[in-house]
Amino acid sequence: MEDIYILAIESSCDETSCSIVKNGCEDISTVVLSQIDIHKLYGGVVPEIASRMHIEVITKAIEEALFKSALTMSDIDAIAVTYAPGLIGSLLVGVTAAKTLSYVYNKPLIPVHHIAGHIYANNLVAPMEFPLLALVVSGGHTELVYMKYDYDFEVIGSTLDDAVGEVYDKVARVLDLPYPGGPKIDALARLGEDTYTLPLPLDDDSYNFSFSGLKSAVINLKHNEEQRGHKIVKENLATSFQNRVIEIICKKTLRALKEYQCNHLVLAGGVSASQGLREALKNLCSKNNINLIYPDLKYCTDNATMIGAAGYYAYKIGKRADLTLNAKATEFLH
Ligand code: KG4
Ligand code: ZN
Repeated sequence: MEDIYILAIESSCDETSCSIVKNGCEDISTVVLSQIDIHKLYGGVVPEIASRMHIEVITKAIEEALFKSALTMSDIDAIAVTYAPGLIGSLLVGVTAAKTLSYVYNKPLIPVHHIAGHIYANNLVAPMEFPLLALVVSGGHTELVYMKYDYDFEVIGSTLDDAVGEVYDKVARVLDLPYPGGPKIDALARLGEDTYTLPLPLDDDSYNFSFSGLKSAVINLKHNEEQRGHKIVKENLATSFQNRVIEIICKKTLRALKEYQCNHLVLAGGVSASQGLREALKNLCSKNNINLIYPDLKYCTDNATMIGAAGYYAYKIGKRADLTLNAKATEFLH
């Protein structure tokens, strides 16, 4: 079979990334230019700054990825790009760059949903096997996705309010930890004990999640303790918070695995970098004979490699866009 090389672009939030991926599973070269140091100054991503930064570095990211791969545009079979969901100004930069490359070099243009990318980051570890359940936990998403076969997505549950990563970041802010707070909470949680009483969020029969109540509970608890003159033990609050998150995620994931008769679970999104969550899911899967795959840490947060992996399967089933392709801030995974 002939090798397929996809040049992929990702710019949906605060990382400008370009990657060349072979056959949906091999990272030939990847460049990720992060803007975290700038957004840190504001305690979160500032959309207007993000899009301007993407414009400044997108060409550099593409040139560097090509240079590192030692390939030329004539070796590239198609251009894949994240077109949704994300920050509209940020997405537009990547979409415009991809459309330009597609037009100038006469290459097919493949539209990729950002979450499909996060899920296919697992294909860089081992070929994904179906049917599978994907647990998507990122700064913008919390979803359980059933996949009967390649590039077929059925969202069986999602968050009704805040995404889990968003709540990690907000709780981190309350604890005076810098952005992005997820990794810091995860690290603190390893040092503390589960001493604070917090509610298990949306413990019902659905596969949906709701984390805003848990977030408010953390904020209220901190205020109440401070009003009583008690100092919060940050490590313990981080542990108590993370344990409740892990508990509800594990509970609903296991029920979905059983109902949908899946023996394969893949993790996706930035929060899947959490050591606490990984360990809990490893335990759960080994007890229940489930094959668990999670991406390498560098492919958990936003990158174009995952878009190239997903883009390959989209290419194979004939997904194409033309030059009318537009960025979309919100778009259901399908
Ligand atoms: O997937 P991602 O890079 O961006 C979105 O598509 O949203 O995810 C970013 C999120 C942030 O909320 C960040 O705090 C969280 O992932 N995150 C973590 C860890 N590393 C990143 N959360 C918990 N533990 C971590 N180790
Ligand atoms: Zn993401």
